Amino acid sequence: MSEAVAAPRADFTIEQDWAAYSAEEHAIWRRLFRRQQEILRERACPEFLDGLAGLGVAADGIPDFRRLNALLDAATGWTIVAVPGLVPDAVFFGHLANRRFPSTCFIRRADQLDYLQEPDIFHDVYGHVPMLMNPVFADYMQAYGKGGIKALRLGSLERLARLYWYTVEFGLIRSQAGIRIYGSGIVSSKGESIYSLESPVPNRIAFDLLRIMRTAYRIDDFQETYFVIDSFEQLFAATQPDFSPYYDQLQGTSDFLPGTVLSSDTVLQRGRTAPAESRSP
Ligand code: PHE
Ligand code: CO
Repeated sequence: MSEAVAAPRADFTIEQDWAAYSAEEHAIWRRLFRRQQEILRERACPEFLDGLAGLGVAADGIPDFRRLNALLDAATGWTIVAVPGLVPDAVFFGHLANRRFPSTCFIRRADQLDYLQEPDIFHDVYGHVPMLMNPVFADYMQAYGKGGIKALRLGSLERLARLYWYTVEFGLIRSQAGIRIYGSGIVSSKGESIYSLESPVPNRIAFDLLRIMRTAYRIDDFQETYFVIDSFEQLFAATQPDFSPYYDQLQGTSDFLPGTVLSSDTVLQRGRTAPAESRSP
């Protein structure tokens, strides 16, 4: 193996080099995959489970992006591009706006199965790609990319990032069968897949765009509040308007702590977390 590192491309993409994964790395993928299959069968929304089923090749081991892309492109016109890790915001949004999903290539170690702060290929592919098989969500993600470029220009990225966090990463959805998961940060985590639906601790509040844009989030622990959409059509429709007036309107307003419940919230399940208590161990 060569130590040489190719000069990065302007769009930060690299080659996945699928042939270089070891048997151990493929085994870690399969362990994570099987474990989540079991947990998510009754917890993930049908759109996620359908998307995953449509990407059958993902069950065998770390997927080869070329094989996955043939299926994904045929379904919704999205493709996965390999990146070395987090990329600059403008680059990330540019990819999304062109229906390209940037994914990391490395997989966590066997002693990190339960928690990893940065995204790895299991989070990026297992967590995000199944939802990109859904036409409405696929359009939402592209619109988000375009919105990201605009938010950068308007200096309102923090507002928009909260929307990504509380929908794409940690979103819940109501279904006939009850509340289900679609957020990638949840479906790629064993602990949070169970916690987000079953724990009495967090709040579960009906989706509200401007409320989300005012709500801080935590990156170091399970969420204190989850926002629940009724449908992907609702999410798409709510985010179609030009956000510029919203950003203006929110100028100078205060932020809410992650565990806050407001009298104006439609609370589906009130959690035990309240701002005053959230500092206690
Ligand atoms: N409508 C948003 C805007 O004008 C763009 C957007 C769409 C953002 C979908 C997020 C999700 O900025
Ligand atoms: Co993610």
